[in-house]
Amino acid sequence: MAKIINVGTLISGGGTNLQAIIDSATSSISGSISGSTTDKIDANILFTGSDTHGVKGLERAQKANIDTFVVDYAKIIRACKHGIDDADLPPDFNLGEILEKQQLVTSDVSSVTSPDRIEFFLKSRAIAEKMLLDHILAYEIDLLVLAGFMRVLTPYFIDRLNTIPGKYRIMNIHPALLPSFPGTDGYGDTFRYGCKVGGCTVHFVDYGEDTGPIIGQRSFDIEPGDTLEDVKRKGLEKEWELYPACIQQFAESV
Ligand code: GRF
Repeated sequence: MAKIINVGTLISGGGTNLQAIIDSATSSISGSISGSTTDKIDANILFTGSDTHGVKGLERAQKANIDTFVVDYAKIIRACKHGIDDADLPPDFNLGEILEKQQLVTSDVSSVTSPDRIEFFLKSRAIAEKMLLDHILAYEIDLLVLAGFMRVLTPYFIDRLNTIPGKYRIMNIHPALLPSFPGTDGYGDTFRYGCKVGGCTVHFVDYGEDTGPIIGQRSFDIEPGDTLEDVKRKGLEKEWELYPACIQQFAESV
């Protein structure tokens, strides 16, 4: 039998994946999102954090008696636009080291992404990430699960969770069959390309965007006449099966 792992979760919105994980982590299947019997997984959810107040996913967590917190990214980034002093940055923030490691943004000659913008991006995100870490590190978690968390995480954050070299501890779900269609609109990109098969991917988080090692994937057929809404519905149903299964696989590996 696998050990029961302690899991933290981060969300940004509706939290249907979070609900599927909650349903699988508790033996009760009442309120199960898919309506089908979910296999019990060896996971205990300690908290749900959000980058936005008032989202439905927070309600789902509270209903399941899971601790919640919010780090309001939009507000933090707005405040940073008035200027970032060194004193605002986490004391252990090292811009040079993070610039060297990060694979999220590249500087280009047209200055669409100028060095100044990259610096602002990394500094403002580190300020928000330090606030996330202040909540998260108060718990002893084995795994952090991003369940529709719509923010990229920089090396500043990742290095403070992945403290054992070579051991990944952050998982993400992406709405496409990676490495195709990384980015924010996987189902939309799959649909608009005219793919006949769509899918979802659970992967570990590394320094790039949607680039980390793949843990599991599920696919579905896209039939003639399917709309984008059909693709999203089919995809989400697969996500609700896949994410708990990947968390269980992790639990069995520790
Ligand atoms: C999912 O499609 C997931 O793949 C993507 O964001 C969506 C979150 O949905 N990262 P929900 O909040 O779990 O309902």
